[in-house]
Amino acid sequence: MSLLNKHAVFEKNSILLCVGILITVAIGGLVEISPLFYLESTIEKVKGMRPYTPLELAGRNIYIREGCYNCHSQMVRPFRDEAERYGHYSLAAESMYDHPFQWGSKRTGPDLARVGGRYSDDWHVAHLINPRSVVPESIMPGYPFLADKELKIDDLSGHLAANRGVGVPYTDEMIENAVLDARVQVNPDADEVDAFMERYPKVQVRDFDGNPNKLTELDAVIAYLQMLGTLVDFDLYAQDPALR
Ligand code: HEC
Repeated sequence: MSLLNKHAVFEKNSILLCVGILITVAIGGLVEISPLFYLESTIEKVKGMRPYTPLELAGRNIYIREGCYNCHSQMVRPFRDEAERYGHYSLAAESMYDHPFQWGSKRTGPDLARVGGRYSDDWHVAHLINPRSVVPESIMPGYPFLADKELKIDDLSGHLAANRGVGVPYTDEMIENAVLDARVQVNPDADEVDAFMERYPKVQVRDFDGNPNKLTELDAVIAYLQMLGTLVDFDLYAQDPALR
C-alpha cells in the first residue's frame, strides 16, 4: 500500500515521470544491446561460403550499377510458398560477403537468390539481350550493350582490397591474382585453372556469354547469376542432423 502511495509522486510530477521513464528504458536498452558487443559474430557459420571470384564480383558491381535490385530481391523468406518456388530459405551467412547486401525490397521480377544453375548460359544471354525472346510476356528491360562492352578488369585488385577492408577474407594471393583470375574463369584451357579453383572452391569455369574472343560485361553478370545460391550444399544439411 505504501509503495502505491509513493507512485503518486511520479503521477503528479511530469518531469519526474519523464526521468523515471528514461532510466527504465535505458536499463532495458543496455540489457539488450550490450551483449552484442561481446559476440564475435551474430551470423552462424555455414559450410561452403567463400568470397566472390573477381569475375563474380565484377558481375555483381554491374548488377548494382544497372539497378537490377529495383525489380529483384535476393532473399527467400522462410515461408512455405517461397521455399517451394525458390528453394531453401536464405541464410544470413549467404549474404555475409555482400557489401552492400542485395536483399531488395521489391519484386517486380522473381527472387534471384537461388537462380544459379536454373537456366543455361545461352538462356541468360538471350534473356539479358532481349527478355521477350525467351519470355514473351516479360516487362524486364533488355541490356544488349552488356554483350558488346569489354569488361573493365584492371581495377579488380582494388575492388577485392576494398572488400577486404570491410571484412571479406580475401588473401594477398587472391588480390594479387585478381586480374588474371578474371581471365582464367572464362578460359578452362588456361594453365592457371587449378590454382584458381583451389582459391575459389566450387567455382564455375567456362566462357559464359558464348563469345570466347572477348571478356565482356555479359560474361561477368552471367558468372554472378550462375553462382547465386549454389555455394551452400543444403543436401549436406538435410542428411546430417549435427550440421542442421
Ligand atoms: C523493370 C524491372 C526489372 C529490372 C530492372 C530487371 N528485371 Fe529481371 N526480371 C523482371 C521480370 C518482370 C522478370 C520475369 C519475366 C522474365 O523472366 O523476363 C525478370 C526475370 C529475370 C530473371 C529470370 C528469373 C527466373 O527465376 O525466372 C533473371 C535471371 C533476371 N531477371 C535478371 C536480371 C538482371 C541481371 C537485371 C539487371 C541487369 C534485371 N533482371 C533487371 C524485371 C526486371
